[in-house]
Amino acid sequence: MDKDSSARKRLDYNDKIVLAPMVRIGTLPMRLLALDYGADIVYTEELIDRKLLRSFRRENDVLGTIDYIDQTDGTVVFRTCSREKERLVLQIGTSDPERAVEVARMVEKDVAGIDVNMGCPKKFSLLGGMGAALLKEPGKAVDILNKLVENVAIPITCKIRVLSDLEETLRLCDTFAATGIAAIAVHGRTIEERPQHPNRNHVLREISNRLSIPVIANGGSRDIQTYSDILRFKEETGCSSVMLARAAEWNCSVFRKEGPLPMEDVIKSYLKYAVDCDNSPSNTKYCVQNILRELQESPLGRRFLDSQTLEQICEVWELGDYCRSRSKEFRNNGLLDRFHVSPIILDTANGCGDSRKRKIDEDNDVSSMRCAFLRNSYTSDLDLPKTRLLKWTKENRKKMPVYNTRQEDKLFCSVVTVDGKKYGSSFWEKNKKYAEQGAALVCLYFLGIVDQESLTAGGNIPLR
Ligand SMILES: Cc1cc2nc3c(=O)[nH]c(=O)nc-3n(C[C@H](O)[C@H](O)[C@H](O)COP(=O)(O)O)c2cc1C
Repeated sequence: MDKDSSARKRLDYNDKIVLAPMVRIGTLPMRLLALDYGADIVYTEELIDRKLLRSFRRENDVLGTIDYIDQTDGTVVFRTCSREKERLVLQIGTSDPERAVEVARMVEKDVAGIDVNMGCPKKFSLLGGMGAALLKEPGKAVDILNKLVENVAIPITCKIRVLSDLEETLRLCDTFAATGIAAIAVHGRTIEERPQHPNRNHVLREISNRLSIPVIANGGSRDIQTYSDILRFKEETGCSSVMLARAAEWNCSVFRKEGPLPMEDVIKSYLKYAVDCDNSPSNTKYCVQNILRELQESPLGRRFLDSQTLEQICEVWELGDYCRSRSKEFRNNGLLDRFHVSPIILDTANGCGDSRKRKIDEDNDVSSMRCAFLRNSYTSDLDLPKTRLLKWTKENRKKMPVYNTRQEDKLFCSVVTVDGKKYGSSFWEKNKKYAEQGAALVCLYFLGIVDQESLTAGGNIPLR
C-alpha cells in the first residue's frame, strides 16, 4: 500500500453535502463551481474501468491539471487538479474486481475516494454487468468491494438504488457495509422507477438507522431549490449526508447557504472555469444547455444554440475577451504544441489503430501517413478536413474527392482520391466518418494546405 496515501487525511463522509456523479455534467469546471458554492465532496461522472485503463497520466503544467488521456484517440478521459484532490471521489463503472483494483490504484494518488456505481439502470451498464446489474449479483458486488478495500489506500464507497422490498434492501446494505466500505450512497428509487416517482425517503431513514457507516441520501432533487431544502431532505431521511444531482445540474449555486444565485451568474462563473480548464466546447455547451433548459427558446438561448466554439459560447455572456486572452496565454505557454496529443505518438498496442497487420490499400500507390482524427480538436465544422478538402477541390476546379473505405474487424480505413492521386492514413479508426476525415487530413498535408503542426493540433491552425 502506498505510504503517501496512508499519510493523507482520510475523507470523512459524515455530515457532508455532496455533488452527485453525473455523466457529462460532473467534469472539472462543474466540480470546481460546486466547491465554490459550498459542496463538501464532489464526485466525478462515472468513468468506465476499461476506458481509464487505456489512458495515460500526464501533468499539464500549462493548465495546472492532471490529465488522463485516451491513448487511442487523444481525448481527455479525466481531468483534475490539486484544488479538489482532498474532496474528490472518482466513480468507476466496473463489473470486475481485478479491473476495479487496477483502475483504483492507477488514480489513487490524485483523488480522495473511489466509488463503485451500482445504481445505473442504462442498457449500456446493465449489458456490461455494471451499475444496477451488480444489485442483482450481490456476490460479485461484494467481491469488487472486498478487493478494493483490501488493496487500495483511500476510502471505498458504493452508490446503490433501493430494492422494492425493504427487508431485502436492508440485507443488501448490511452485506455491503460488512466489506469495510467507508460510506454508502443510496438513491431512494428502484431500478424500474423514474424521476417522476416519489423518492422513498422512509427507506433511506431505515437504512440509516440500521448501518453504522455514514449513509448519503440521494434522490431528493425534485423538491430541492435552496440550502434549507437540502437540510429538510437530510432531516426527513435521517441520513448523515446528502447528495444532489439534478438540483445542482440546474443551478449549482443550490449549495450556497446564503441562497441560490441567478442563472446568469452561475453560467458566467461556470464558463470562466470551462475556459480555465480548456474544457471541450461540446461538453461546455451540454452543461450550459442543462442550466438554461426551457430558456433555450429565448433569443439569448437561440444565439447560444448557434454557437460552436468556446469563444462563441462565451461571447453570448460577454466573456469573449476573457476566453480570447486566456486561450492566448495557454497557447503562448505551449498548450497546443505540448498538450494536444500527437497522433504520431499514439500507442497502438491496444487494438484500435493497430495497423501492423493491415495494409491501407492493395495498391502501393497511396501517399500515406500515420494520422488519427481527433474530433475534439475541431471547434467548427468548417475546419473539418473533409470540408476543407472539398473547398480546395472547388477552388481549384478539381473533381470532388472520392472516398473508399474498408472495414476489418471493428476498424475502418479510408483512401481518398483527389486529382487522380490517392491518400490515406495508416491509423485505423473506430468509425467510417473518422476514417474519411483522417484520409482527408493526410491529403491536405500532401497538398501543402496544412503543415505538420496542424496534423497534431487538429483544425486549430488556420489555412496557410
Ligand atoms: C445527467 C445525469 C447523469 C447521471 N450520471 C450518473 C452517473 O454517472 N453515476 C451515477 O451513479 N448516477 C448518475 N446519475 C444519477 C444521479 O447521480 C442521481 O442518483 C439521480 O439523479 C437522483 O438524484 P437527484 O434527485 O439529486 O437528481 C445521473 C443523473 C443525471 C441527471
